[in-house]
Amino acid sequence: MAKILVTGGAGYIGSHTCVELLNAGHEVIVFDNLSNSSEESLNRVQQLTNKTLVFVQGDIRFEKELDQVFQEHKIDAVIHFAGLKAVGESQKIPLTYFDHNIAGSIQLMKSMEKAGVFTLVFSSSATVYGELNPSPYQEDMPLSLPNNNYGYTKLMIEQMLQKIALAEMRWSIALLRYFNPVGAHQSGQIGEDPQGTPNNLMPYVTQVAIGRREKLSIFGSDYPTADGTCERDFIHVVDLAKAHVLAVTNRLDQQGCRAWNIGTGIPISVLQIKETFEKVNRIVIPTEFVHRRVGDLAAFYADASRAKNELGWRPQYTLEDMLADSWNWQKQNPNGYKS
Ligand code: NAD
Ligand code: WQD
Repeated sequence: MAKILVTGGAGYIGSHTCVELLNAGHEVIVFDNLSNSSEESLNRVQQLTNKTLVFVQGDIRFEKELDQVFQEHKIDAVIHFAGLKAVGESQKIPLTYFDHNIAGSIQLMKSMEKAGVFTLVFSSSATVYGELNPSPYQEDMPLSLPNNNYGYTKLMIEQMLQKIALAEMRWSIALLRYFNPVGAHQSGQIGEDPQGTPNNLMPYVTQVAIGRREKLSIFGSDYPTADGTCERDFIHVVDLAKAHVLAVTNRLDQQGCRAWNIGTGIPISVLQIKETFEKVNRIVIPTEFVHRRVGDLAAFYADASRAKNELGWRPQYTLEDMLADSWNWQKQNPNGYKS
């Protein structure tokens, strides 16, 4: 069993991953500046697992804060979630994104190297495949510049990680390319809690369902897809969390830098999300069709066979589970962790 530092561990995917790590018997130290999360998520992780974790409030951009964590704890591996993730915001304040995501990741790599810790799992994104690759995306396809600054930071960090692993054999790095994470822990105790207006589809749908928003706007109905709305590869956050446990175990045992897609491989349209949510949860989601959102691709989904073959990872949850669990979380926590 390993001692794992989880940067950004209080956030949506991080908190679910802490549950799976603790349940698998690992020790967890969360390092998070709480800029987009609440410590309450970690209280609930501990209640759910009946285990304790260590929480350190700190910022990955700051050398002293990070170095202190590595000095105080004998860390075996790092799972790195910390960063900013709003695509639209990244177009308005690119420097802030470069600072938190790129400079923050560089600082983390430096502190790891100083402490002699070389095992890292990084939260990457399907966005690194850019606009030109056909779906299903495969890990060895050539990557290209994403059309937004958030995606650019993910591509840059991936490339830096590839290069440090080539230069120094002790590094062992997993690049997990997530598709579209949705859902919540089945207890409804932890889930996605966006600040302000949600950027992503799923929290928008659940906030309409709970009455915090009037209606869902579907961005575009004239895409070259089966029903004219965009198609994405939605993945249950608990399946995604479990992939991190498998990836960190794999990396503690291997060298080099390796990428894995974490998606179901099944394209689902935005309209299907709305209709299935209504059916599964017996709630009507008032909806309007509006113009396309700038930068959206018509469709993309994963070829997830590498994660299956090499990590033994298989998604277990269905679309219906994802939508029922998202609603269960929102229903029990109408105002997120503030309720
Ligand atoms: P989140 O915002 O819920 O979690 C990120 C956490 O990082 C938050 O708790 C935040 O407080 C913390 N943080 C931000 N900047 C920090 C800093 N400088 N120092 C320390 N902590 C900091 O987001 P999430 O959805 O859980 O995403 C986790 C990771 O996965 C991110 O790197 C994101 O880019 C990546 N990712 C997310 C998605 C998605 O759709 N949710 C898809 C692909 C990749
Ligand atoms: C999904 C679909 C929208 C909101 C983004 C990032 C990606 C990754 C996941 C981090 C799209 C449509 C949405 C709404 C809508 N994140 N939509 N009405 O854009 O696929 O991916 O999050 O790495 O990098 O780009 O996710 O949830 O924003 O949108 O119609 O109110 O839902 O147009 O087709 P996206 P999303």
